[in-house]
Amino acid sequence: ATNRTFTMIKPDAFGAGNSGAILKMIEEAGFKVVAMKATKLTPELAGKFYEVHQARPFYADLCAYMSSGPIFAAILEKDNAVEEFRKLIGATNPADAAEGTIRKIFAKSIEANAVHGSDSDENAAIEGNFFFNQAERVL
Ligand code: CMP
Repeated sequence: ATNRTFTMIKPDAFGAGNSGAILKMIEEAGFKVVAMKATKLTPELAGKFYEVHQARPFYADLCAYMSSGPIFAAILEKDNAVEEFRKLIGATNPADAAEGTIRKIFAKSIEANAVHGSDSDENAAIEGNFFFNQAERVL
């Protein structure tokens, strides 16, 4: 079924000027952008976005990193969007990411890993709603 996932182009990729190249790969893979904006998270907002990870040792660093510079946030639509997008971006750690994936090409480290992708339909909806109201997305 056609469904949606949520992504962020993270501060490393945004800052390196790789957003356009990453969006081109996303569109060429058949995803439609149904919401998008450039924004910058505060540490508090990053903490809220990633609160499921708050018990993890990397949580404080992750929140500092994700609020260190501008990002693009977007909602993407495709058949089987969550799973297909995770295939396109590759493993969380770029050292483990398959050839040709966005993280293999653009990520610098497990933290500065170029892009975020939702891990379930439920989280895709929660994460999309975190950034976009109804007037800011294609219904
Ligand atoms: P993301 O898909 O945005 O979801 C959680 C993020 O935490 C993940 O990408 C990584 O950037 C980061 N992350 C996951 N594991 C680690 C780790 N072991 N060390 C540092 N950052 C991590």
